Amino acid sequence: MTAALVDNFGREVTYVRISVTDRCDFRCVYCMSEDMTFLPKSQILSLEEIEVIARNLVACGVSKIRLTGGEPLVRPGVVGLAERLKALPGLRELCMTTNGGRLEEFAEPLKAAGVDRLNISLDSLDPERFRELTRIGKLERVLAGIDAAQQAGFEHTKLNAVVLKGRNADEVVPLVRFALDKGLDISFIEEMPLGVITEHDRAEAFCSSDEIRETLGQVFDLQPVGDDTGGPSRYWQVEGHANRIGFISPHSHNFCGDCNRVRLTTEGRLLLCLGNEHSMDLREIIRSRPGDDLAVQRALHEAMTLKPERHYFSHDAEPQILRFMNATGG
Ligand code: GTP
Ligand code: 5AD
Ligand code: SF4
Repeated sequence: MTAALVDNFGREVTYVRISVTDRCDFRCVYCMSEDMTFLPKSQILSLEEIEVIARNLVACGVSKIRLTGGEPLVRPGVVGLAERLKALPGLRELCMTTNGGRLEEFAEPLKAAGVDRLNISLDSLDPERFRELTRIGKLERVLAGIDAAQQAGFEHTKLNAVVLKGRNADEVVPLVRFALDKGLDISFIEEMPLGVITEHDRAEAFCSSDEIRETLGQVFDLQPVGDDTGGPSRYWQVEGHANRIGFISPHSHNFCGDCNRVRLTTEGRLLLCLGNEHSMDLREIIRSRPGDDLAVQRALHEAMTLKPERHYFSHDAEPQILRFMNATGG
């Protein structure tokens, strides 16, 4: 292994989220605008290019890769990519975050390719609301996808729900019951102000993790437990259950101090923080210097000097980040 990737604040980067496509078969209101235009093919990394970058990241000590999007399962060839990434020596965990709508078809191939863990978005259990939140998503397909993941043998699957007042904040108890019934963990996420959206006012819709925990605390006995995934969720155990409830609180409990992660965007920028624009153009390096792994690794180390200390999300200011989540590695 070449030298580890350590930033100016002493944080070692061991977790990379790779956005394999900016496209998606849903249009979640907090993630995309309705008339989203997607990147032209020439601008997005080929699967081979993703593999080159991933290989060099792992050579520099990255031990966990999460494939995201957009929706990773709409990218043709993603199962083969997963299989090749899983074979990288030194990679400890290969995960995927998906909207779940295609898991009936893909759960078994993903398991066979060696994907270790899935996180599946589920914001509502009401079909009509689910459609409003995702604009075009079908709840029954996601529910079937969750079952398919469990039948394929995936363990430690986590559900993700972005909680918004006026849309799904009154569903946190049923969502926890659903997760516990299925034997799944669930994380509740504070909405992040990425991209300009028009459907709701982000400040008005904001629902803090503390509010959610208070609501849940009236029904469940919650005890804090440690984090073992290396992700931003802070977990609480429900008395009498093996599963956990996580809270991802970019606004109310900043978790940047022990950040261990960077993102590779669809167009090949190594994005050093979700809430800032600091990045390194790796596509330019691999396209101008094919086969030069050392140049990629030098660029990765240089990128570490650009990683900012923290994000400064504010739900009541104009969005500082104009890019949407889907091309970013949500
Ligand atoms: P685990 O491996 O299960 O811990 O997954 P994870 O929570 O790292 O990944 P997931 O894809 O489930 O992400 C859930 C939410 O956390 C998404 O909305 C991510 O964008 C958000 N998230 C992940 N990492 C960061 C981060 O570094 N900063 C911020 N602000 N949000 C993050
Ligand atoms: N704020 C918080 N989470 C978001 N996600 C997408 N957009 C946002 C946003 N603006 C979440 C999705 C999914 C994960 C990949 O990112 O719900 O669970
Ligand atoms: Fe697609 Fe996920 Fe964005 Fe929803 S949050 S539009 S499922 S990428």
